[in-house]
Amino acid sequence: MPLIPPHLRSPGPDNPFPGIWVLKRRLGQEIPHRLGSNEGLDMPHRALREHFGDAMVEHVYCYGDAEALGVRERLSKTQGFDLDSLLVDAGCDSLLALVLRATAPTGSTVVSSAGTYPTFGYFAKGQGCRLIEVDYEETAEHLAPDIDALIRAAHDEQAQLVYLANPDNPTGYVHPKQSVERLRRELPQDCWLLLDEAYHDFRDDAADPAFARALPGVIRCRTMSKAHGLAGLRIGYAIAEPEVIELLMKVRIHYAVSTLTLAAAEVVLDAPDETRTHIEGVLKRRDRLTRHFRELGADVLPSATNFIGIRLKDADLAKQVHADLLNDGKLIARPAHPALGHVLRITAVADALEPGRLARLERAVTEGL
Ligand SMILES: Cc1ncc(COP(=O)(O)O)c(C=O)c1O
Repeated sequence: MPLIPPHLRSPGPDNPFPGIWVLKRRLGQEIPHRLGSNEGLDMPHRALREHFGDAMVEHVYCYGDAEALGVRERLSKTQGFDLDSLLVDAGCDSLLALVLRATAPTGSTVVSSAGTYPTFGYFAKGQGCRLIEVDYEETAEHLAPDIDALIRAAHDEQAQLVYLANPDNPTGYVHPKQSVERLRRELPQDCWLLLDEAYHDFRDDAADPAFARALPGVIRCRTMSKAHGLAGLRIGYAIAEPEVIELLMKVRIHYAVSTLTLAAAEVVLDAPDETRTHIEGVLKRRDRLTRHFRELGADVLPSATNFIGIRLKDADLAKQVHADLLNDGKLIARPAHPALGHVLRITAVADALEPGRLARLERAVTEGL
């Protein structure tokens, strides 16, 4: 079992406000009269109703379900997770922060890849962790988080936690299940593995039932921002063994996910066909973008996400292309980390496929300037 910080080893702290939804479930009865809670109970808002409609008003004036049971039940039913191996929070970013808060106290060492999704490192540094970054494995075919380097660094640096985005942002690379299992096996026993699976829904093998199992010593985080289109509402979920979920619940901000968000997530999870259609559209556009740029001679990285990464000949050219496109009102992504400064990331939206839209990038690919 990975290390649990000493202050979280004994029972508590307990959430002082589990809320009425949790209380109703604990008592097994309805509580029709709310006379002690401190929300704006008497103010269903007129202006809000006029602007957003009745449903909005019904959702917003009470605190929501701190255990997000409706969302967890739907995730459990559709993907086979055990209910008690799921925790819902305000997006994958919030989950990264939550996991760090629960597992990696100030002064502890965490390991990541130099140039990967930067929010993890930002939160780790903000918490006073010592952040060690290892290089990517770069070959002619791919740019991948280096599993062996992560394992080595975890041992050498006595890491408390290792972070891996899988599929990775910004490269799009996905390590197969077996590599992740090996990573877990070869990490020190007392080191956590935090797997950021924000792009899981775009994997070819996303529906493999093996992903429903919580793995010992592993905390996986997912989002409804991408395949489910709810980025603005902020919702994601963690998958881990029940005792690890209990640990995370000790330090979670109990009402971080709004009532409206929970309700919207339930509606979206009840319409899986729409999500599937969306994913299929993304994958088609991603393949078209890949083909288009490869035909021009670009070094398009293999991607299991909703974007493609293109390696340019150097960081200076990538910086220039990024700046020129932005000057022209077109924002693509370029990692801020110098280790991946030569990579540009383009999202597989229809607009990116409009003829001429990325002409500046096409010129960089064909003429090298
Ligand atoms: C790897 C990775 N993790 C987490 C996130 C954040 O997801 P959320 O919107 O759920 O906070 C992103 C968003 O781009 C991401 O790329």
